[in-house]
Amino acid sequence: MAHHSKPQGPDIEQALHPQARKRLLRVIACGSAESGKSTLIGRLLDAAPVRCTDHPAATAADAKTWRIQGARIDFAPLPDKHTAAEYGLTSELAYRFFATDTRKFIVADTPGCEPHTRDMVIGASAAELAVLAIDAQRGLLTQTRRHSYLVSLLGIGHIVVAVNKMDLVDYAEAAFARIVDDYRAFAQKIGLERITFIPTAALHGDNITRSSARMPWYRGPTLLGYLEAVDIDERHACSAPFRLPVQAVSGPDPDVCGLSGTIFSGAVRPGDRIRLQPSGRTSRVARILTPAGELAEAFAGQSIALTLSDELDILRDELICAADAPAEVADQFAVTLVWLHGEPMLAGRPYLLKTGAATVTATVTAIKYQINVTTLEHVAARQLELNGIAECNLSVDRPIAFDPYATNRDTGSFILIDRLIQHTVGAGIIRFALRRAHNIHLQHVDIDKAARAALKGQKPCVLWLTGLSGAGKSTIANLVERRLHAMGRHTYLLDGDNIRHGLNRDLGFTDADRVENIRRVAEVAKLMVDAGLIVITAFISPFRSERLMARSLFETGEFIEVFVNTPLEVAEARDPKGLYKKARRGELKNFTGIDSPYEAPEAPEIDLDTRRLTADEAAQTVLLRLQQAGYV
Ligand code: ADX
Repeated sequence: MAHHSKPQGPDIEQALHPQARKRLLRVIACGSAESGKSTLIGRLLDAAPVRCTDHPAATAADAKTWRIQGARIDFAPLPDKHTAAEYGLTSELAYRFFATDTRKFIVADTPGCEPHTRDMVIGASAAELAVLAIDAQRGLLTQTRRHSYLVSLLGIGHIVVAVNKMDLVDYAEAAFARIVDDYRAFAQKIGLERITFIPTAALHGDNITRSSARMPWYRGPTLLGYLEAVDIDERHACSAPFRLPVQAVSGPDPDVCGLSGTIFSGAVRPGDRIRLQPSGRTSRVARILTPAGELAEAFAGQSIALTLSDELDILRDELICAADAPAEVADQFAVTLVWLHGEPMLAGRPYLLKTGAATVTATVTAIKYQINVTTLEHVAARQLELNGIAECNLSVDRPIAFDPYATNRDTGSFILIDRLIQHTVGAGIIRFALRRAHNIHLQHVDIDKAARAALKGQKPCVLWLTGLSGAGKSTIANLVERRLHAMGRHTYLLDGDNIRHGLNRDLGFTDADRVENIRRVAEVAKLMVDAGLIVITAFISPFRSERLMARSLFETGEFIEVFVNTPLEVAEARDPKGLYKKARRGELKNFTGIDSPYEAPEAPEIDLDTRRLTADEAAQTVLLRLQQAGYV
């Protein structure tokens, strides 16, 4: 069955609805606390001739509402099997739907006295227009600036500034003019261009849906009048190059193997040449399948399954692109990152990154600068705190397909997820790929790890000792190495105190420095394992994230985590270097176990209870395990 007529809309319910033919406008409402934003939205809704529903607080149903309307709630869409909530991407956003004779509207409202940046980012990423409320009495506040910055960052083309509570300034034109001037000056610096200012008094309904007799000096439109008339650039989704992320290999017809997903942008017809990125393979579209039948053309927002004219093995995270305008491929990027979590972002720490097209492991390799949203100054930063916005370099563990955010919001935006807590912790946009990503290739070498290990007659691995200061790591590591050496094994011991005298002498004990300490040590250990050695490391390595990162650098079985399990009281009682005493006296800051955390391993390969074992017995235990695992 083939449909050659008009394309299928993304939502059938919607097609049946009398409002269906009207263009939908997605609006984000923002503004600082007490700017009267919610009253303003309330007034709009009250006055609208058609008010469909007020959706309750954000739930999966809201997400669906946004999707049904062809918008997205997620900053970057998550694969079907993961709901947004699973990654903690729930928000307090309230979505309101209403319609007038000319247009339909969805307004995402960021509630609360201190709206979360997270809500702003989620709401703004799908919006075409922002309504920003400013309290006429208070003028521009930090939140006004932060929200404006995010509006600009996320590429929302239009902003309406409602200078609200005009009743409190006697409806004076001068008060309005002063805020307009202040805001224009700020907006110019952040590159916001299409700004409309409307003086309002939401409490009394002035200039919301009817012109205010109390402000005869204002001759512009009312807020609703403006929203109905504003010319939204529709060039985006449909005319952009074709992009379809492959979500599953299968389709509505069980006998036909289709590549299914929701079209991010562009249109597709049978016969079109496509290119799969990042693999670069090309083919042609054979058929476009939907549960309702076969299509002659499909557009952005539609869920379809494609069949290709060639049998290709589809790899994970591939993006189907128009062959003549494919997405770029890279593994290092310049990005703008917004941090959304109370635990700060640390450069060098691995996070899970999801773009519209792929899920990979990412680390921020450098924070170029943080942006002070009030002064717009560039501030040096070692880490990024909640609500912080920074320009960063970011590196991912394998090349992915992407477009710069400026050309495609779906393939150019991403979220970062903490792998341990499975929570969305950051969101960002890709500015461009770093050139270095293009010009550095892995060099093939003939003598590899297996060859070097064979010559030494051993199986290389890393014994990763972790535990508190004074737990006995160095002592046990030393004994293990002596025994291995006596057995004729080739070893190397990397010890915290020693490495911190050389390679890592520039690092201290802040969280950021410890992350970098472990990153370097893990990379060095990897090189040494590659050289065929049995490597022993003795570092507190207090964070699970970094131990997980270290583990991920090695092949399965090569990384042996050894927990030198000594309770704090015991380590403190031993205090071989007198450091605990110093820390207790407050003379040593950020001391592990005192005022800096230690996250004990949950499933170490070896757990050494040093209250029961002597150092010799502990070393013997490690050796035994190495023998059992076939390493010696
Ligand atoms: S780690 O946390 O980054 O892994 P590492 O193992 O390299 O630490 O260094 C720990 C050693 O540094 C300790 O054994 C101790 O001798 C010394 N040290 C000095 N200051 C601190 C501190 N604030 N916290 C922990 N160890 C410290």
